[in-house]
Amino acid sequence: MIRRRKISVVGAGNVGASAALYCAERELGDVVLIDVVEGIPQGKGLDMLQYGPIERFDGRIVGTQDGAAMAGSDVVIVTAGVARKPGMTRLDLLQTNAKIIASVADNIKTHAPESIVVVITNPLDTMTYLLWKRTGFPPQRVVGQAGILDGARFAAFIAAELNVSVEDISTLVLGGHGDDMVPLIRYTTVSGIPLSELMSADKINALVDRTRNGGAEIVKLLKTGSAYYAPAAAGVQMAEAILKDKRRIMACSAYLTGQFGLNDVYIGVPVLIGGNGVESIVEIRLTEAEQTALHNSAKIYKEANADSLKAVS
Ligand code: 2OP
Repeated sequence: MIRRRKISVVGAGNVGASAALYCAERELGDVVLIDVVEGIPQGKGLDMLQYGPIERFDGRIVGTQDGAAMAGSDVVIVTAGVARKPGMTRLDLLQTNAKIIASVADNIKTHAPESIVVVITNPLDTMTYLLWKRTGFPPQRVVGQAGILDGARFAAFIAAELNVSVEDISTLVLGGHGDDMVPLIRYTTVSGIPLSELMSADKINALVDRTRNGGAEIVKLLKTGSAYYAPAAAGVQMAEAILKDKRRIMACSAYLTGQFGLNDVYIGVPVLIGGNGVESIVEIRLTEAEQTALHNSAKIYKEANADSLKAVS
């Protein structure tokens, strides 16, 4: 028997609802939208179901409060948690979101023990670590979304600056999902042409700065929350790579066991993503400056990981 794949999205706020919608629109599988707030996932799910005949996509979409509904999920996308308000860093969300992630992890462990989990909740690298630790899943099956989003922001700014299509731009942003991110300019190309051939160093630095603050720029404008279209789309791109066993190489937050000289930490690195989740970590050579930046970034999350474990102990 052939059945549709199943995706559960935990958290029916803006990121979760957008992720559920993108999964449904692309016919990646049946979608379950789960949230503790009564009525919200049901209402949003019903709205999406009714959008199907207009956009011509099939698939079941249901909203529920019941964690048991995630049973049999191939992929679980975790977006539950609070978002930043102006002036906050992502790490300011740690205490609140650690408790939420711990309870989500317990639910996933009970109801979807075979699933592959894509985490979007902030502070991303730390929440991914916590969810991995708490579920006891193999690290191949827990992966965090951030590098695709940060890379997409960089690409959007490059495209606008050069007045060229986004389609030809390839970026690679490693490190944690924070001001400490590590955009690799050497690996940033426009149709294979290194960015440095097309843009002055000053201009590149300005775009890197804007990318570092890309999330905060949106929080400042929205005032009551943070970005959601692009973060959700980035998570769904990872889910798609898993569900279709595409074996894409993308920057994701993955568990390191010695790669890049780092141990026992989730941080953004190039990852080969396929049907088993993290198929492998692509250990590219870094310059000394890049390596130092990556290690400095990892140090921040190692400390944050200890704090998040404490917050839920
Ligand atoms: C962002 O960078 C929400 O972390 C997300 O916008």
